[in-house]
Amino acid sequence: MVKICCIGAGYVGGPTMAVIALKCPEIEVAVVDISVPRINAWNSDQLPIYEPGLDDVVKQCRGKNLFFSTDVEKHVMEADIVFVSVNTPTKTQGLGAGKAADLTYWESAARMIADVSKSDKIVVEKSTVPVKTAEAIEKILTHNSKGINFQILSNPEFLAEGTAIQDLFNPDRVLIGGRETPEGTKAIQALRDVYAHWVPVDRIICSNLWSAELSKLAANAFLAQRISSVNAISALCEATGADVTEVSHAVGKDTRIGPKFLNASVGFGGSCFQKDILNLVYICECNGLTEVSNYWKQVIKINDYQKSRFVNRVVSSMFNTVSGKKIAILGFAFKKDTGDTRETPAIDVCKGLLGDKARLSIYDPQVNEDQIQRDLSMKKFDWDHPLHLQPMSPTSVKQVSVVWDAYEATKDAHGICILTEWDEFRSLDYQRIYDNMRKPAFVFDGRNIVDGEKLRQIGFIVYAIGKPLDSWLKDMPAVV
Ligand code: NAI
Repeated sequence: MVKICCIGAGYVGGPTMAVIALKCPEIEVAVVDISVPRINAWNSDQLPIYEPGLDDVVKQCRGKNLFFSTDVEKHVMEADIVFVSVNTPTKTQGLGAGKAADLTYWESAARMIADVSKSDKIVVEKSTVPVKTAEAIEKILTHNSKGINFQILSNPEFLAEGTAIQDLFNPDRVLIGGRETPEGTKAIQALRDVYAHWVPVDRIICSNLWSAELSKLAANAFLAQRISSVNAISALCEATGADVTEVSHAVGKDTRIGPKFLNASVGFGGSCFQKDILNLVYICECNGLTEVSNYWKQVIKINDYQKSRFVNRVVSSMFNTVSGKKIAILGFAFKKDTGDTRETPAIDVCKGLLGDKARLSIYDPQVNEDQIQRDLSMKKFDWDHPLHLQPMSPTSVKQVSVVWDAYEATKDAHGICILTEWDEFRSLDYQRIYDNMRKPAFVFDGRNIVDGEKLRQIGFIVYAIGKPLDSWLKDMPAVV
């Protein structure tokens, strides 16, 4: 029986391995982590991450050929294939701080693999890593190998949170990079055989190691760039009276461009886009490609601009101050159908409003108070470390309350900011909400999900990203 072990039971390791276990009943899959609470949660009815369809998959195979464990060394030792899906945060100190990837967790995983291995292994990079990481890992492994043969493969993950199970069942492509040697080719073939259980072979792409590593960074940079492009256009729409939804519809009809990822919003978030672009920027700089690095940096700058101009819009429309005013925040996760708040635009928007002394009442169907308080108190990039290594019990932000209901959040509020596109926010009883708010009552739709006309008829003053401005907003010019 082939044995697989995955180091890192996070958003990638957990769902990916659960699907491999489901699709390959004759393979034994162990997912290991140094975080005891995380592994306990994977072994309970309350999985540590919210992902539609995940519960079902885990229930079907857990205890049969899918195991979650903290006994990292035992499972690594027994495995034929070891996936590494640990955190790869942005460095906060030293060379490349603020841009380069911190490979501390990766390196310690690699050293541990070398230490405990007694048989040949294929080591698979699942984490997103800078180009040429495999080379460094290969060196660590071979210098400590005691005669054992390690083959390194790069198999970056392209799943999107919120649709992870669907993406894993039916991926656009699976990418496997390896050494162009007979042993490398054999290792690629072995991993290909795993995916071929359910992925059509023409969607399994094989390449050299560096191409695979760079393709993942490039894919995320392209995706983020589309969002920043449409967001840049949204600012121009507001200035001119064009409607960004109409513009992106017309643009997306061009088959060379396509309709996906063209929604204007308050900005992109998630653990990957910013981190991976910063990584790309750093690699370009290291290679003397200043113009190229500046080009990609701009994608992040537009994202930051989009968040700050949203805050400016809120403050300027409410008579240039939100001091002491209650603002309801609907949605805190970085997108719908996930509880993940890493790099969510809600953090910067909330911090911006708190900077102007607003009182915030936050509701998100999947994010709890502890997480929100941590996010609003944590320093940049501190979030991307194993849970037990993150700063403990930061002091909570006093002007923030977290509630479990949109009606509670909006009661007596002066304004509402919609920051995540949860479906339930489309169908709230906005008349009831309006009746319970202070007047004038404002809605700032950061995701363009509500029917602005309906809300205006109720009496709201409505701002929606990239849409023609209400006369109220025109009369209260913002610095945007
Ligand atoms: P995560 O933070 O959810 O999971 C990483 C896990 O690794 C944590 O549970 C941590 O405790 C564990 N860990 C760290 N060092 C360890 C060690 N030495 N031994 C055992 N366990 C260890 O991170 P996530 O989101 O799963 O991301 C992992 C990698 O996958 C990152 O490089 C990320 O860029 C990449 N990725 C993430 C995607 C996403 O949507 N979240 C999509 C595609 C790639």
